[in-house]
Amino acid sequence: MREAGRAAATVLHKLCAMVEAGISTLDLDEAGGKLMKEVGVTSACRGYRAGSKVFPCYTCLSVNEEIVHGIGLPERRLESGDIISVDVCISCDGYIGDNCRTVPVGKVSPDVERLMRITEESLFLGIDQAVHKNRVGDVSRAVQNHVEDAGFAVITNFVGHGVGKTLHEDPQIPNYGQAGSGPRLKKGMAVCIEPMVNTKSSKVKMAEDGWTALAVDGMPSAHFEHTLLVDEERAEIITIPEGFEKAEHFFAASTSVA
Ligand code: MF3
Ligand code: CO
Repeated sequence: MREAGRAAATVLHKLCAMVEAGISTLDLDEAGGKLMKEVGVTSACRGYRAGSKVFPCYTCLSVNEEIVHGIGLPERRLESGDIISVDVCISCDGYIGDNCRTVPVGKVSPDVERLMRITEESLFLGIDQAVHKNRVGDVSRAVQNHVEDAGFAVITNFVGHGVGKTLHEDPQIPNYGQAGSGPRLKKGMAVCIEPMVNTKSSKVKMAEDGWTALAVDGMPSAHFEHTLLVDEERAEIITIPEGFEKAEHFFAASTSVA
């Protein structure tokens, strides 16, 4: 799991560095596929089945009001002021690593930067609760409180999850709920915590492609995710890129607007 986590994070890190105005989301997806090859892993998204649907891309790339599971397209070129959620989910020797980060394209508005910061902070607050004997609801509550205190809305249609030899395992880890409720977390469990946060309304609709989930009100949405191993004192984040010692915070409170 640690190897899979590191590979997923390395690919995500390198792919996020390629985000710039003018690049198409298809170009980014193909670059993601290439990076996976270089690292010696395969995409866990491409070919992923949900009922009769099969996911067509190496990565999930969701721009602005797109929340998750966005599809790379040749005509979707990034522009300065956009944000893009880059979700990288790989298989490494039969184990899955899954992580996501929302990055700005050029300069974004202070409101959008704040959305990204609060979402990232809510992920780390959730991770703080992912310790032995705590319950899933402790994680959910921490995420929801932080998001709602900031005036944003958590998505309820999609959730975090256990992870291992398959991408989505029990338990589900919602980004909303009650402290002290739900299944207990245990040392050694591998889980993905992944807050998805909309600016205003949590209402979601599906795009015609059958995969991309969008904010109904068209306002921007952010998504941050790590894979971690539950432990006694604090969880071990395993989606840390090669060459890094710990999980980076990209939106430190001290550097951002109110
Ligand atoms: N991080 C995403 C998730 O857990 C990865 C989805 S891959 C897809 O849902 F194939 F389902 F899109
Ligand atoms: Co996930």
